[in-house]
Amino acid sequence: MARLAGVLLVVVATVACWAAASAPGAAALGMNWGTQASHPLPPKVVVQLLKDNGIKKVKLFDTDFAAMSALAGSGIEVMVAIPNNMLADLAGSSRAAKDWVKRNVQRFDFDGGVTIKIDFLDDGRVVQWLDNGDSGQWTVYAKAVRYVAVGNEPFLEAYNGTFINITFPALQNVQNALNDAGVGDRIKATVPLNADVYNSPANNQVPSAGRFRPDIAGLMKDIVDFLAKNNAPFTVNIYPFLSLYLNDNFPLDYAFFDGGATPVNDNGVLYTNVFDANFDTLVAALKAAGHGDMPVIVGEVGWPTDGDKHAKSSYAERFYAGLLKRLAANTGTPARPNQYVEVYLFGLLDEDQKSIAPGNFERHWGILRYDGQPKYAMDLTGQGRNNAMLVPAQGVKYLSKTWCALNPNVKDLSKLGANIDYACSNADCTTLGYGSTCNGMDVAGNATYAFNAYYQVKSQEDSACDFQGLALPVQTDPSTATCNFTIQIVTGAAAAAAPALGGAAVAGAVLLALLQLLALW
Ligand SMILES: *[C@@H]1O[C@H](CO)[C@@H](O)[C@H](O)[C@H]1NC(C)=O
Ligand SMILES: *[C@@H]1O[C@H](CO)[C@@H](O)[C@H](O)[C@H]1NC(C)=O
Ligand SMILES: *[C@@H]1O[C@H](CO)[C@@H](O)[C@H](O)[C@H]1NC(C)=O
Ligand SMILES: *[C@@H]1O[C@H](CO)[C@@H](O)[C@H](O)[C@H]1NC(C)=O
Repeated sequence: MARLAGVLLVVVATVACWAAASAPGAAALGMNWGTQASHPLPPKVVVQLLKDNGIKKVKLFDTDFAAMSALAGSGIEVMVAIPNNMLADLAGSSRAAKDWVKRNVQRFDFDGGVTIKIDFLDDGRVVQWLDNGDSGQWTVYAKAVRYVAVGNEPFLEAYNGTFINITFPALQNVQNALNDAGVGDRIKATVPLNADVYNSPANNQVPSAGRFRPDIAGLMKDIVDFLAKNNAPFTVNIYPFLSLYLNDNFPLDYAFFDGGATPVNDNGVLYTNVFDANFDTLVAALKAAGHGDMPVIVGEVGWPTDGDKHAKSSYAERFYAGLLKRLAANTGTPARPNQYVEVYLFGLLDEDQKSIAPGNFERHWGILRYDGQPKYAMDLTGQGRNNAMLVPAQGVKYLSKTWCALNPNVKDLSKLGANIDYACSNADCTTLGYGSTCNGMDVAGNATYAFNAYYQVKSQEDSACDFQGLALPVQTDPSTATCNFTIQIVTGAAAAAAPALGGAAVAGAVLLALLQLLALW
């Protein structure tokens, strides 16, 4: 990105230390912040949203610069991540791992006196550079990174073994690089794994019989030995929703925490919900591998609200009400009773560009809508207060109240199907399917939904509401009682509303930014 001006100010400042307290309730609750959206909320809005809701830990899926910049100085603890497609590089070269740690962790890990230069980007964002006297310019952040997630569910059976041989070497190289950088005592590398890396044998389906999957048992043993050597936690993603989604015979109530299901009897221990049973299956597998006391982080857990008959707000509300109460009370599980469990909810916001290979529900995991509005009652403190609502995102700007609809005067509909397909392959139509909020509309309703979804993805560009003459913009909201025809939000540079700045304005803006920066410290 071209810079408007070079170095404008040099100051010396002190970065405050970060607080790593783990108190029960929201203070101890982590949140996954994914950004696979056509119109992501501005990072600053998201960070304010996290703060307003008392969330002190966040898990990212990369080391997105804008997200990290917005998190700077917020006091929020961060788990950064290395995407699967980078594992091969990091596995093959300890030098690459060192470079990655230097670029993505060390520059976010600084306290004491630092020299700052303030730089202005042409889209109005202010970036703070640290002159470290080395070749590169690094950004200054308070110590915030606590974990590095190496890969994301790399042993998923659906990946056909693609990451089997590279995940462990990448984990070793990254942790060794952290150790060499002198931060390995505070910053731990871990591998978020899907719960499909362990199971109980078909003839003994109880948690205490849990073992790592036979095809990767040796590899898992190596990994947990390495994690143990470095005092690093095991990270697992547990999804009771998927138990229901994948198995029509799964007892509905067993997915939730309010009883009602026939308990599973494990040698006298009664399991009343699948979350506990799943977690304890892992505990048994760890024990069998010689690490029964290894700390376990739940890297993802949550419930989607659309895209499947079981993905609905009422179920999500019920699931979280039960989960959050137990977490706040440090109930633990039968194998690890009365313990704090470190948990990251999945996720903060709906993401309309996530892959729907796993299912249409994938784009609807947010506890908040795409625009940061709450979907259902939720009390993050786990006190179970009735009708407690999350604090919505502040200062969100919407595009104009214009929708794109099927032109009712068009007679020749022969090209309608192809145009709907085109719209839906570029925008999110997952709410149209069976069991979803917009299912059951007529052809015109489907067409309008698809056209509008595409038009909004394209930020309401005129040319995006034509579809070979089949569509036209309208000012009346086509939404129904159950189905929202959404208006997208203003995002990116426009959301920052940067006017063209002259020299004096730049200096003023930089001074203001500097004052804000100092206020953070
Ligand atoms: C895994 O294998 C299946 C069946 O051979 C194939 O359909 C699928 O695309 C493969 N997935 C990947 C990620 O390679
Ligand atoms: C992993 O390594 C094994 C043993 O060297 C080899 O047989 C297998 O093909 C490798 N898998 C992949 C996906 O590279
Ligand atoms: C509307 O779209 C959905 C999802 O593609 C489809 O299942 C349904 O049959 C469509 N309805 C009509 C009337 O074409
Ligand atoms: C539709 O959006 C409105 C806010 O614009 C919200 O209150 C309502 O719950 C949404 N309905 C559905 C079915 O998502």
